[in-house]
Amino acid sequence: MTALKPLIAGNWKMVGLPDDLGRFAEAMRAWGGTSRGDLLICPPATLIGAAVQAFNGLGIAVGGQDCHAKASGAHTGDIAAPMIAAAGGAFVIVGHSERRADHAETDAQVRAKAEAALAAGLTPIICIGEQLQQRQAGETLAVVEASLRASLPEGDLARLVIAYEPVWAIGTGLTANADQIAEVHAHLRQVLTSIHASGAQVKLLYGGSVKPGNAVEILSVADVNGVLVGGASLIAADFQAIAMAC
Ligand code: G3P
Repeated sequence: MTALKPLIAGNWKMVGLPDDLGRFAEAMRAWGGTSRGDLLICPPATLIGAAVQAFNGLGIAVGGQDCHAKASGAHTGDIAAPMIAAAGGAFVIVGHSERRADHAETDAQVRAKAEAALAAGLTPIICIGEQLQQRQAGETLAVVEASLRASLPEGDLARLVIAYEPVWAIGTGLTANADQIAEVHAHLRQVLTSIHASGAQVKLLYGGSVKPGNAVEILSVADVNGVLVGGASLIAADFQAIAMAC
């Protein structure tokens, strides 16, 4: 199987004002480094258009952090996938564990969001991951497999990205170790290729306290095709260090 080009993605979550974006873009423009991977920043929705402009010529793609399952309608406060595309976005995160918790998002709703993203020409990054008590109970592979299967759109899988984010590693400074990451990613790859041959082309990202100090090890694990970075992606120097780790 040809190696998949790594995707180094930043999820800014509910953090970031125009000045923060300006400083980040300025630091990336001044950066002399290079990455073997594709770079992506998912800022708050209010900054998507400005980020597309600010990152012009830098080779940094822009994405959303969520989208509604419908293309338009009476859904106050929600954002539709076509709106992200129209603003210049190319990706959208769906089913992040924080949204699954804060908004009671189900696997079925995540599947519908991913289908809406594909329909709008966006690449969905579908997030799955287990809770600490599920890992401690030895249920990790069963839990992530069930969530993956229920969150996947029908048909060809090649345009999807999957992010494995153990909930207990998000924002905690705890990361899954290389063996834990390898076990889950190998299982996800086996499930994906058993569903459709295009499953071999799906990029599998790891997310959960990725930092400059652990990025090389994480990115060297088999079937890790990139990372989804939270807090460290807000710091240009840290994002640059992680981008150079692949
Ligand atoms: O989507 C990525 C995020 O959940 C990871 O956050 O701060 O642990 O890197 P963090």
